[in-house]
Order: sequence, then structure tokens, then C-alpha cells
Amino acid sequence: MNHQTIITELADGIFTITINRPDKLNALNKFVMEEIDLAITKLYHDPEIHACILTGAGPKAFVAGADISEFLQTDPQGGSLLAKKGQELFARIENAPKPIVAAVNGFALGGGCELAMACHFRIASENARFGQPEVNLGIIPGYGGTQRLTQLVGKGKAMELMMTAQIIDAAEAKSLGLVNHVTSAESLLEHTRQILSVIISKSPLAIGKVIAAVNAYFTPSNGGYEKEAELFGDCFGTSDMKEGVSAFLEKRKPDFRKN
Ligand code: COA
Repeated sequence: MNHQTIITELADGIFTITINRPDKLNALNKFVMEEIDLAITKLYHDPEIHACILTGAGPKAFVAGADISEFLQTDPQGGSLLAKKGQELFARIENAPKPIVAAVNGFALGGGCELAMACHFRIASENARFGQPEVNLGIIPGYGGTQRLTQLVGKGKAMELMMTAQIIDAAEAKSLGLVNHVTSAESLLEHTRQILSVIISKSPLAIGKVIAAVNAYFTPSNGGYEKEAELFGDCFGTSDMKEGVSAFLEKRKPDFRKN
């Protein structure tokens, strides 16, 4: 497949999807989301693919978030739709019948942290950094972060991380259970491949059923994702969001008016 914003590679049954916009820290614009979607469709259907690694190109970032430069043209309805589409793609990752592991090689912020959390588990390099800094922009996580961060680290810590916008390092992410292992940057992909090679030596049908059964524990029947998409959309009608996003794009501190 010929892609513009991702690189895909299949070796020994392991499909690697590398998000490839290093000059924008691999931020998720609509093209990246479409291309990840195509790659995930391939993963679902290609019998040669037994497992998948999701990672980011370059030494600095896994994914530094949704592409903030697309936000100013977005109204509340568009914001809610953006969240719903992102949630759908990330749910397809979470519910894939084959293991998908995030190899987090730098910043995993906002939508990047949400993408990593949609994967079945996460391995981080020592320079990985995690956070949901949306409140700096006058918005909230919209690609499932309010739900999955709460599942992974518990309500109190999730609330603190999302309200303070604090960025945490790989060691803290491990202590919170957000990542399973921390490796050097050089050995990140190899370490991830080693774990996946163990997994793919097992029964693929049984692995698919492990994923489905564990996910059933978290089946979102409580309307949390719908609420998140609605509230994410609401943010796009506020002057706080316009100020937060403009401040980021103009490389200055925001001055929130709180309405
Ligand atoms: N969306 C769009 N562009 C982004 C981006 C994002 N989420 N994150 C980084 N970029 C761009 C920057 O605008 C910059 O582009 P430029 O060179 O054209 O100015 C480029 O990527 C490099 O980022 P820069 O901010 O210069 O790198 P840094 O090392 O100084 O800072 C971060 C790194 C991750 C701390 C900083 O980029 C950042 O805060 N990014 C946004 C994180 C965020 O809020 N994510 C949630 C979005 S919902």
C-alpha cells in the first residue's frame, strides 16, 4: 500500500505501522487518521498479519496529539463529529482480533496518549512522555482518553492528569500501569517484537478471544464515550478553546476568560 503519512511494513507476521510526520511530531491530522484506518482494515483482513506494532517516526515523538492546526476551523458540531470518528477508529484498534502493541518512542500526548491507550498494551522507551494536556487548549480529550485513562490508572489519578495537563515520564507511566515495560530507545522495537513473537506462537483464535473477553469487562454501556464526544464538541463553541488553540499556534501562553 502506498501511504503519505504512515509507513507500513510486514515481517515475520508482525505488521508495523509507523506514523510519519516527524516535523509535526506525528500529529494526527485527518490524512493520518484515514491512513491508520486503512492500515487497520488491512490488519483485520490480511491472513499474513498476526500482530501489529504502532509507533512514531523520528526520535522525538510517538504522536504529539491531534493536529491542533485543524481546530480553529471546527465548530461544535464538527468537534463532536471529529471525536466520534476518532473514537470509532480507536475502538477498531481496541477490538481488533489480533494483538496491537504501542511502541512509544517519545511524546505521547493528547490523541497520541489516547492512541497508545487504545492499543492492547504499551511498551515505552526511556524518553517517552505521556499526558492529556488538552485543558491547556481549552478542550478535553475526545478520542476516548477520559474513559481509557480512567480504566488504566484509576479515577483519581486520571482526574489529576487530565486537570493538571501534567506530562509524566516513562518510569512514572510504568508505575501507574500505563505502560508494561520501559526500554532504551534503541531496543524499543526489538523488545516489542520479542514479546509479540511469543504471543504469535500461541493459538491465534485463543489470543483473539483473550482480547474480546478482556474488552468485555470494559464494554462501554454507560454512555461515557458519547458524553466525551458531546462535551468535546461543546468546547469548540467557547472562547477558551479559541484562545487556547490560538496561543499554541502563536507560541504564547493562553489567557483564559472562562466562558
Ligand atoms: N498539532 C499540530 N502541530 C503540532 C502538534 C500538534 N498536536 N504538536 C507539535 N506540533 C508541531 C509544532 O507546532 C511545531 O511545528 P512548527 O515547527 O511548524 O512550528 C512542530 O510540531 C515541533 O513542535 P515544537 O512545539 O516546536 O516542539 P517542542 O520540542 O518545543 O515541544 C511539545 C514539544 C510536544 C511539548 C509541543 O509540541 C506541544 O506541546 N505540542 C502539543 C501537545 C498537545 O497539546 N497535544 C494535545 C493536542 S489535542
